[in-house]
Amino acid sequence: MEHYVINGGKPLNGVVSISGAKNAALAIIPAAILAKGVSTIENLPDIADIKNLFAILEELGAVCEFKNKNTLIIDSTNINSHVATHKMVKKIRASYYLLGALLSRFKKAEVDMPGGCNFGSRPMDLHMKGFEALGATVDTSHGRVRLSADKLIGKTVYFDIVSVGATINLMIAATLAEGTTTIDNAAREPHVVDTANFLNMMGANIKGAGTNVIRIEGVTELKGVNYTIIPDQIEAGTYMIAAAITGGDITVQNIIPKHMDPLTAKLTEMNCDVEEGDDFIRVRADKPLTAVNVKTAEYPGFPTDLHPQMTALLTIAQGKGVITEAVWENRFQYVQELKRLGCQISVNGRIASTEGSSILTGAEVSATDLRAGAALVLAGLASQGTTKVCCANHINRGYENLEEKLNALGADVSRVKE
Ligand code: EPZ
Repeated sequence: MEHYVINGGKPLNGVVSISGAKNAALAIIPAAILAKGVSTIENLPDIADIKNLFAILEELGAVCEFKNKNTLIIDSTNINSHVATHKMVKKIRASYYLLGALLSRFKKAEVDMPGGCNFGSRPMDLHMKGFEALGATVDTSHGRVRLSADKLIGKTVYFDIVSVGATINLMIAATLAEGTTTIDNAAREPHVVDTANFLNMMGANIKGAGTNVIRIEGVTELKGVNYTIIPDQIEAGTYMIAAAITGGDITVQNIIPKHMDPLTAKLTEMNCDVEEGDDFIRVRADKPLTAVNVKTAEYPGFPTDLHPQMTALLTIAQGKGVITEAVWENRFQYVQELKRLGCQISVNGRIASTEGSSILTGAEVSATDLRAGAALVLAGLASQGTTKVCCANHINRGYENLEEKLNALGADVSRVKE
């Protein structure tokens, strides 16, 4: 296990470069096995989940090599197994993308039920609805998903809940199906678009990604390509909030500012100075902040993956704030940990209310999941004294070089391996 030790209370100032998007990479790497060839994926974040996927693909028979810590070469020519049971499969939620990729390539797939952050039940019924629509039989007994199909035929699928994973999984599965697949009420996240762009570069025929209707015309084969992952919207947002919560001045660069619009609007509403360039956003918090109300929603709404970080910020702003979590049923486990630092928060169902202007003081806290851990680090940076954030392995699943990037901004953070 690992933990972070944070000596807080200092404003963070400077420039931070954002890494590649975790949730785009976790979809694109499995999608690469659709091609009998070699793909080179660049701008990958150097995080644990990517390394876990590397091990899973190798077990399937792919030949993978890290050209450098952010570039992975995948030769999937000789993949010879449709069965993913590597111990790492259960560790990451994105293992579910192997279902769509293996079903598409082999017309069968066998993947252990995925793991991932625990904020309530994380059903996969919409994923299965998509696969069944294409003609696959689905068996989810004994903690494993087994799919098989004589052939995959395009259909129209309506998702009554907007699901990033189900949208991407069906897009991947439909790429080599016969005929046209239409996804109605599709997710529009930047990583949905990035995955569609990757598949199209391989030779797929996907239109409408980024809107709520995606149309996939099946093709007969895909080829390996060189592809660069988009910047990580959630990492960028975490550093923008770091500027606000420490009263600092941070320029977040190598980003797509449009992806940050919901957070930019909220930080501006809170009295931050937010300056937007072609590939950067500068956040200055040199005035007292005012608390606001936030409701999470699928893109282009306020991202649920910035909800815990935003709650931490609201507790030091003036006035009452309200966070409504409309995507996940139980994403508030982090609140108990934030309260140990002096944050004043009350939770009722899917709504958290914050009393602002809290003076935070360091304490020992524990990360319950990836973004909860990020929120605790941000609150520790704003706290007087020393904060120890335990279970830091959660955080390292989604943030590349967190302590180096924070210390380069003037923080005092050390990562301790226990
Ligand atoms: C992806 O999870 C992300 N993970 C999550 O980010 C993110 O919180 C989530 O999208 C929402 O943006 C990855 O991309 C690896 P969903 P996913 O399917 O695909 C319900 C992080 O911190 N649902 O969009 O699992 C579900 O219960 C992680 O990077 C069904 O009911 O999320 C939820 O209420 C945490 N049936 C809603 O849809 C299904 O079959 C949205 O889930 C699938 C989902």
